[in-house]
Amino acid sequence: MRSSPLADRQSPLVRWSAVARFLHWLVALLIAVQFVLGWLAVSWHLSPTKLNLFVWHKSTGMLVLALVLVRLAWRATHRVPALPLRMRRWERIAAGASHGLLYVAMLALPLSGWVINSASGVPFRIYWRIPLPSIAAPDKHLADLASAVHLALGIALLVLLLVHVAAALRHHYIQRDDVLARMLPWRSPLR
Ligand code: HEM
Ligand code: HEM
Repeated sequence: MRSSPLADRQSPLVRWSAVARFLHWLVALLIAVQFVLGWLAVSWHLSPTKLNLFVWHKSTGMLVLALVLVRLAWRATHRVPALPLRMRRWERIAAGASHGLLYVAMLALPLSGWVINSASGVPFRIYWRIPLPSIAAPDKHLADLASAVHLALGIALLVLLLVHVAAALRHHYIQRDDVLARMLPWRSPLR
């Protein structure tokens, strides 16, 4: 039964592969760093430190975009572990939908940041080295709009992550299945 676009090609693998686990936790860590850098950069007083915080934030955001594209490419070409058989239909749909929305937010956040940067007309080099091409002409209204979208997407991602973590903990402590254990970066005994 196809329960969601992300739930296809499921197989009886017992855990996520090392590549999938590495990408999941690396991107999760970088996104946490991004929230700290984003809010620090916005609230810092005008100084060279503020500009450096923005370079780190924008560069790491572009790195997240690249890693999410690699992750999606990996996802499209590999089998993934099947959800536990006893999960109900609504739970499968909720898992597929929330994972899909997480991917959308992980792509849309850096893309909206890229639009802010382009529409502001600020030349920018990723990690002070690689010039970032412009994807929009300089336009103050577009920059303000992209900035509002970027903030809204950030808040939406935080809400999705709350649900995501709560669901992972529910699987582990209430349903007592392997869903969390098989995504953990270290070897843990599967129940
Ligand atoms: C920024 C933080 C995070 C993001 C963006 C994120 C995103 C995702 C996405 C998109 C998937 C679906 C993978 C796929 O089907 O291709 C996933 C799976 C998973 N995540 Fe996260 N995650 C984050 C943090 C966490 C945390 C903190 C936990 C644990 C408390 C967690 C537990 C899991 C588990 C257990 C799965 C596997 C679900 C399954 O087997 O179907 N994630 N995550
Ligand atoms: C996963 C990636 C990203 C996350 C989670 C993220 C998150 C955030 C957060 C939480 C803020 C502070 C709140 C606000 O919007 O005012 C922020 C601000 C900002 N971010 Fe990002 N961001 C990401 C990627 C990027 C990228 C790739 C760029 C540019 C290339 C960028 C450019 C900006 C700019 C210019 C601001 C200041 C916005 C303003 O002045 O209103 N961000 N970001």
